[in-house]
Amino acid sequence: MKLNSGIPSAASMPVLVEDSERSQDETVLASYSGEAFQRSGIRLSVDQQCRLFNMFDTDICKGHYRRNVNVPLSIEDEAVFKQPGHGADTYGEIMPESFLEVLWRSGATSRERFYDLGSGTGKLAAIAWLTGMRATGIELSRARSELAWQMQARLESRFAEASKSTEKCSFPKIRTGGLKYLCGSIFDVDFTDADVVFFSSVMFNKYQVSRVATIARWMKPGSRIISFHDLSNLGADYDFPEFKLLGEIYVATSWKAESCWFVHEVVDNPPEVELRPQDLIHPNNWNG
Ligand SMILES: C[S@@+](CC[C@H](N)C(=O)[O-])C[C@H]1O[C@@H](n2cnc3c(N)ncnc32)[C@H](O)[C@@H]1O
Repeated sequence: MKLNSGIPSAASMPVLVEDSERSQDETVLASYSGEAFQRSGIRLSVDQQCRLFNMFDTDICKGHYRRNVNVPLSIEDEAVFKQPGHGADTYGEIMPESFLEVLWRSGATSRERFYDLGSGTGKLAAIAWLTGMRATGIELSRARSELAWQMQARLESRFAEASKSTEKCSFPKIRTGGLKYLCGSIFDVDFTDADVVFFSSVMFNKYQVSRVATIARWMKPGSRIISFHDLSNLGADYDFPEFKLLGEIYVATSWKAESCWFVHEVVDNPPEVELRPQDLIHPNNWNG
Protein backbone atom coordinates (compact mmCIF):
# COMPACT_ATOMS: atom_id res chain seq x y z
CA MET A 1 0.00 0.00 0.00
CA LYS A 2 1.19 3.49 -0.76
CA LEU A 3 -0.12 6.70 0.64
CA ASN A 4 0.55 10.05 -0.87
CA SER A 5 1.69 11.71 2.31
CA GLY A 6 3.35 10.92 5.58
CA ILE A 7 1.34 12.96 8.01
CA PRO A 8 -1.95 14.16 6.60
CA SER A 9 -3.38 17.53 7.56
CA ALA A 10 -6.38 19.47 6.35
CA ALA A 11 -4.22 20.80 3.51
CA SER A 12 -2.86 17.43 2.42
CA MET A 13 -5.54 14.82 2.71
CA PRO A 14 -4.66 11.15 2.58
CA VAL A 15 -5.28 9.58 -0.79
CA LEU A 16 -5.07 5.91 -1.55
CA VAL A 17 -2.88 5.38 -4.58
CA GLU A 18 -3.29 2.46 -6.93
CA ASP A 19 -0.81 -0.12 -5.77
CA SER A 20 1.69 -1.12 -8.44
CA GLU A 21 2.11 -4.43 -6.67
CA ARG A 22 -1.61 -5.04 -6.99
CA SER A 23 -3.25 -7.37 -4.58
CA GLN A 24 -2.93 -10.98 -5.64
CA ASP A 25 -5.97 -11.77 -3.52
CA GLU A 26 -8.53 -14.04 -5.02
CA THR A 27 -12.14 -13.15 -4.41
CA VAL A 28 -12.95 -14.75 -1.08
CA LEU A 29 -16.59 -15.57 -0.62
CA ALA A 30 -18.62 -15.73 2.56
CA SER A 31 -19.15 -19.39 3.31
CA TYR A 32 -22.53 -18.81 5.01
CA SER A 33 -21.83 -21.89 7.07
CA GLY A 34 -23.27 -22.73 10.46
CA GLU A 35 -26.66 -21.47 11.44
CA ALA A 36 -28.11 -18.02 11.75
CA PHE A 37 -29.16 -16.86 15.21
CA GLN A 38 -32.96 -16.60 15.41
CA ARG A 39 -33.54 -15.63 11.75
CA SER A 40 -31.17 -15.44 8.83
CA GLY A 41 -30.36 -12.08 7.34
CA ILE A 42 -28.99 -10.56 4.15
CA ARG A 43 -27.28 -13.17 2.05
CA LEU A 44 -25.48 -12.14 -1.13
CA SER A 45 -25.29 -14.46 -4.10
CA VAL A 46 -21.94 -15.54 -5.48
CA ASP A 47 -22.46 -13.12 -8.38
CA GLN A 48 -23.17 -10.21 -6.03
CA GLN A 49 -20.13 -11.03 -3.92
CA CYS A 50 -17.90 -11.13 -7.03
CA ARG A 51 -19.27 -7.77 -8.18
CA LEU A 52 -18.73 -6.31 -4.73
CA PHE A 53 -15.16 -7.56 -4.70
CA ASN A 54 -14.36 -6.32 -8.21
CA MET A 55 -15.92 -2.92 -7.69
CA PHE A 56 -14.14 -2.26 -4.40
CA ASP A 57 -10.86 -3.76 -5.40
CA THR A 58 -10.57 -1.69 -8.57
CA ASP A 59 -12.16 1.78 -8.33
CA ILE A 60 -13.46 2.06 -4.84
CA CYS A 61 -10.61 0.80 -2.64
CA LYS A 62 -7.92 0.63 -5.33
CA GLY A 63 -6.58 -2.81 -4.59
CA HIS A 64 -7.10 -2.68 -0.84
CA TYR A 65 -10.44 -4.36 -0.39
CA ARG A 66 -9.23 -7.36 1.54
CA ARG A 67 -5.98 -5.91 2.73
CA ASN A 68 -5.68 -3.93 5.88
CA VAL A 69 -5.43 -0.25 5.02
CA ASN A 70 -3.46 1.40 7.76
CA VAL A 71 -3.56 5.17 7.51
CA PRO A 72 -0.97 7.29 9.32
CA LEU A 73 -2.62 9.47 11.93
CA SER A 74 -2.32 13.23 11.60
CA ILE A 75 -0.77 15.28 14.40
CA GLU A 76 -4.31 16.41 15.27
CA ASP A 77 -5.45 12.77 15.43
CA GLU A 78 -2.59 11.86 17.75
CA ALA A 79 -3.55 14.69 20.09
CA VAL A 80 -7.18 13.51 20.12
CA PHE A 81 -6.23 9.90 20.89
CA LYS A 82 -3.98 11.08 23.74
CA GLN A 83 -6.96 12.59 25.54
CA PRO A 84 -8.01 10.34 28.40
CA GLY A 85 -10.99 8.08 27.86
CA HIS A 86 -10.84 7.55 24.12
CA GLY A 87 -10.14 4.17 22.57
CA ALA A 88 -6.83 3.09 21.11
CA ASP A 89 -5.71 4.25 17.67
CA THR A 90 -4.66 0.71 16.74
CA TYR A 91 -6.03 -0.39 13.39
CA GLY A 92 -7.27 -3.75 12.18
CA GLU A 93 -10.17 -4.90 10.05
CA ILE A 94 -12.66 -7.68 9.88
CA MET A 95 -12.41 -9.21 6.41
CA PRO A 96 -15.28 -8.26 4.07
CA GLU A 97 -16.45 -11.85 3.58
CA SER A 98 -16.43 -12.26 7.38
CA PHE A 99 -18.61 -9.19 7.72
CA LEU A 100 -21.09 -10.61 5.20
CA GLU A 101 -21.19 -13.70 7.37
CA VAL A 102 -21.90 -11.52 10.42
CA LEU A 103 -24.77 -9.72 8.65
CA TRP A 104 -26.34 -13.00 7.65
CA ARG A 105 -25.97 -14.78 10.98
CA SER A 106 -27.15 -11.81 13.02
CA GLY A 107 -30.32 -11.53 10.93
CA ALA A 108 -29.61 -8.08 9.44
CA THR A 109 -32.17 -7.07 6.81
CA SER A 110 -32.06 -4.44 4.10
CA ARG A 111 -34.72 -2.38 5.88
CA GLU A 112 -32.57 -2.00 8.98
CA ARG A 113 -30.16 0.61 10.33
CA PHE A 114 -26.50 -0.31 10.82
CA TYR A 115 -23.74 1.41 12.80
CA ASP A 116 -20.03 0.61 12.82
CA LEU A 117 -18.51 1.97 16.04
CA GLY A 118 -14.89 2.80 15.20
CA SER A 119 -15.34 2.55 11.45
CA GLY A 120 -11.76 3.18 10.30
CA THR A 121 -11.70 3.78 6.55
CA GLY A 122 -15.37 2.90 6.30
CA LYS A 123 -15.55 -0.41 4.46
CA LEU A 124 -18.16 -2.11 6.66
CA ALA A 125 -20.68 0.72 6.52
CA ALA A 126 -20.22 0.88 2.73
CA ILE A 127 -20.92 -2.84 2.37
CA ALA A 128 -23.97 -2.61 4.64
CA TRP A 129 -25.25 0.32 2.55
CA LEU A 130 -24.82 -1.62 -0.68
CA THR A 131 -26.99 -4.40 0.72
CA GLY A 132 -29.77 -1.87 1.30
CA MET A 133 -29.24 -0.94 4.93
CA ARG A 134 -29.01 2.62 6.22
CA ALA A 135 -25.43 2.70 7.42
CA THR A 136 -23.38 5.01 9.60
CA GLY A 137 -19.70 4.76 10.46
CA ILE A 138 -18.28 6.65 13.46
CA GLU A 139 -14.53 7.19 13.55
CA LEU A 140 -12.35 9.34 15.79
CA SER A 141 -9.43 9.72 13.39
CA ARG A 142 -9.92 12.47 10.83
CA ALA A 143 -7.30 10.92 8.52
CA ARG A 144 -9.27 7.66 8.44
CA SER A 145 -12.56 9.55 8.11
CA GLU A 146 -11.18 11.46 5.10
CA LEU A 147 -10.59 8.18 3.31
CA ALA A 148 -14.10 7.00 4.18
CA TRP A 149 -15.59 10.23 2.78
CA GLN A 150 -13.54 9.86 -0.41
CA MET A 151 -14.74 6.28 -0.80
CA GLN A 152 -18.33 7.40 -0.16
CA ALA A 153 -18.05 10.05 -2.90
CA ARG A 154 -16.71 7.46 -5.37
CA LEU A 155 -19.48 5.01 -4.49
CA GLU A 156 -22.28 7.57 -4.65
CA SER A 157 -21.17 9.02 -7.97
CA ARG A 158 -20.80 5.54 -9.40
CA PHE A 159 -24.34 4.63 -8.46
CA ALA A 160 -25.80 8.03 -9.35
CA GLU A 161 -24.26 8.07 -12.83
CA ALA A 162 -25.01 4.51 -13.68
CA SER A 163 -28.64 4.15 -12.69
CA LYS A 164 -29.10 1.30 -15.14
CA SER A 165 -25.68 -0.21 -14.74
CA THR A 166 -25.11 -3.81 -13.86
CA GLU A 167 -23.87 -2.67 -10.44
CA LYS A 168 -27.15 -0.98 -9.69
CA CYS A 169 -28.95 -4.12 -10.81
CA SER A 170 -26.73 -6.15 -8.51
CA PHE A 171 -27.47 -3.90 -5.56
CA PRO A 172 -31.01 -2.73 -6.24
CA LYS A 173 -31.81 -1.87 -2.64
CA ILE A 174 -29.29 0.92 -2.02
CA ARG A 175 -30.83 4.07 -0.58
CA THR A 176 -29.81 7.52 -1.73
CA GLY A 177 -28.46 9.37 1.30
CA GLY A 178 -28.34 6.18 3.33
CA LEU A 179 -24.58 6.16 3.93
CA LYS A 180 -22.96 8.47 6.50
CA TYR A 181 -19.57 8.82 8.14
CA LEU A 182 -19.20 10.88 11.29
CA CYS A 183 -15.81 11.98 12.52
CA GLY A 184 -16.04 11.91 16.30
CA SER A 185 -16.16 9.70 19.33
CA ILE A 186 -18.53 6.78 19.69
CA PHE A 187 -19.11 7.95 23.27
CA ASP A 188 -20.73 11.15 21.97
CA VAL A 189 -23.11 9.77 19.35
CA ASP A 190 -26.70 8.69 19.88
CA PHE A 191 -26.78 5.41 17.96
CA THR A 192 -29.78 4.05 19.85
CA ASP A 193 -31.95 3.94 16.71
CA ALA A 194 -29.71 1.11 15.45
CA ASP A 195 -31.00 -2.31 14.50
CA VAL A 196 -27.52 -3.76 14.11
CA VAL A 197 -24.28 -2.43 15.63
CA PHE A 198 -20.79 -3.72 14.96
CA PHE A 199 -18.25 -2.75 17.61
CA SER A 200 -14.68 -3.91 17.12
CA SER A 201 -13.94 -3.46 20.81
CA VAL A 202 -10.64 -5.36 20.70
CA MET A 203 -8.48 -2.47 21.90
CA PHE A 204 -11.00 -0.95 24.31
CA ASN A 205 -10.74 -1.60 28.03
CA LYS A 206 -13.71 -2.88 30.04
CA TYR A 207 -14.59 0.58 31.29
CA GLN A 208 -14.72 1.93 27.72
CA VAL A 209 -16.75 -1.08 26.57
CA SER A 210 -19.14 -0.47 29.44
CA ARG A 211 -19.57 3.16 28.29
CA VAL A 212 -20.70 1.86 24.91
CA ALA A 213 -22.98 -0.69 26.60
CA THR A 214 -24.47 2.13 28.69
CA ILE A 215 -25.66 3.71 25.42
CA ALA A 216 -26.44 0.47 23.56
CA ARG A 217 -28.81 -0.79 26.27
CA TRP A 218 -31.23 1.90 25.07
CA MET A 219 -31.41 0.40 21.59
CA LYS A 220 -34.80 -1.06 20.77
CA PRO A 221 -35.58 -4.56 21.99
CA GLY A 222 -34.79 -7.02 19.24
CA SER A 223 -31.81 -5.05 17.94
CA ARG A 224 -28.42 -6.74 17.85
CA ILE A 225 -24.92 -5.73 18.80
CA ILE A 226 -21.84 -7.64 17.69
CA SER A 227 -18.64 -7.01 19.63
CA PHE A 228 -15.31 -8.50 20.59
CA HIS A 229 -16.39 -8.42 24.26
CA ASP A 230 -19.28 -10.35 25.75
CA LEU A 231 -21.49 -7.48 26.93
CA SER A 232 -23.69 -9.85 28.91
CA ASN A 233 -20.71 -10.90 30.99
CA LEU A 234 -18.39 -7.94 31.53
CA GLY A 235 -17.79 -8.70 35.20
CA ALA A 236 -19.37 -7.79 38.52
CA ASP A 237 -18.76 -4.04 38.11
CA TYR A 238 -20.55 -3.90 34.78
CA ASP A 239 -23.86 -5.68 34.89
CA PHE A 240 -26.03 -5.25 31.78
CA PRO A 241 -29.10 -7.50 31.97
CA GLU A 242 -30.44 -5.75 28.85
CA PHE A 243 -28.19 -7.90 26.62
CA LYS A 244 -28.84 -11.54 25.88
CA LEU A 245 -25.97 -13.46 24.33
CA LEU A 246 -27.22 -15.15 21.15
CA GLY A 247 -23.94 -16.85 20.36
CA GLU A 248 -20.45 -16.55 18.94
CA ILE A 249 -19.14 -16.21 15.41
CA TYR A 250 -15.60 -17.21 14.43
CA VAL A 251 -14.41 -15.38 11.34
CA ALA A 252 -11.22 -14.03 9.80
CA THR A 253 -9.84 -10.60 10.61
CA SER A 254 -6.68 -8.88 9.44
CA TRP A 255 -4.95 -10.08 12.63
CA LYS A 256 -6.29 -13.61 13.07
CA ALA A 257 -7.64 -16.41 10.89
CA GLU A 258 -10.46 -17.10 13.36
CA SER A 259 -11.46 -14.30 15.64
CA CYS A 260 -14.38 -14.70 18.06
CA TRP A 261 -17.26 -12.20 18.01
CA PHE A 262 -20.16 -12.13 20.43
CA VAL A 263 -23.64 -11.54 19.03
CA HIS A 264 -26.13 -10.05 21.50
CA GLU A 265 -29.74 -9.11 21.35
CA VAL A 266 -31.09 -6.16 23.30
CA VAL A 267 -33.97 -7.75 25.17
CA ASP A 268 -35.02 -4.87 27.39
CA ASN A 269 -34.28 -1.27 28.30
CA PRO A 270 -33.53 -0.11 31.85
CA PRO A 271 -36.67 0.81 33.81
CA GLU A 272 -35.03 4.01 35.10
CA VAL A 273 -35.62 6.39 32.18
CA GLU A 274 -33.65 9.08 33.99
CA LEU A 275 -30.51 6.98 33.41
CA ARG A 276 -30.73 7.42 29.66
CA PRO A 277 -27.67 9.45 28.51
CA GLN A 278 -28.79 13.00 27.77
CA ASP A 279 -25.70 14.53 26.18
CA LEU A 280 -25.50 12.40 23.02
CA ILE A 281 -25.83 13.81 19.52
CA HIS A 282 -27.92 12.04 16.90
CA PRO A 283 -26.19 11.58 13.50
CA ASN A 284 -28.80 13.86 11.86
CA ASN A 285 -27.57 16.72 14.03
CA TRP A 286 -23.88 15.83 13.83
CA ASN A 287 -21.50 18.39 12.41
CA GLY A 288 -18.43 16.86 10.77
C1 LIG B 1 -9.92 -2.11 14.99
S1 LIG B 1 -10.43 -0.70 14.02
C2 LIG B 1 -11.95 -1.33 13.34
C3 LIG B 1 -12.21 -0.95 11.88
C4 LIG B 1 -13.50 -1.55 11.31
N1 LIG B 1 -14.64 -1.24 12.15
C5 LIG B 1 -13.42 -3.05 11.17
O1 LIG B 1 -13.76 -3.74 12.14
O2 LIG B 1 -13.01 -3.56 10.13
C6 LIG B 1 -11.01 0.36 15.35
C7 LIG B 1 -11.20 1.81 14.95
O3 LIG B 1 -11.78 2.49 16.07
C8 LIG B 1 -11.31 3.82 16.07
N2 LIG B 1 -11.57 4.40 17.41
C9 LIG B 1 -10.90 4.22 18.57
N3 LIG B 1 -11.48 4.91 19.56
C10 LIG B 1 -12.56 5.53 19.04
C11 LIG B 1 -13.58 6.39 19.56
N4 LIG B 1 -13.62 6.72 20.86
N5 LIG B 1 -14.53 6.84 18.73
C12 LIG B 1 -14.53 6.50 17.41
N6 LIG B 1 -13.59 5.70 16.85
C13 LIG B 1 -12.62 5.21 17.66
C14 LIG B 1 -9.83 3.67 15.71
O4 LIG B 1 -9.30 4.87 15.21
C15 LIG B 1 -9.89 2.56 14.65
O5 LIG B 1 -9.97 3.10 13.36
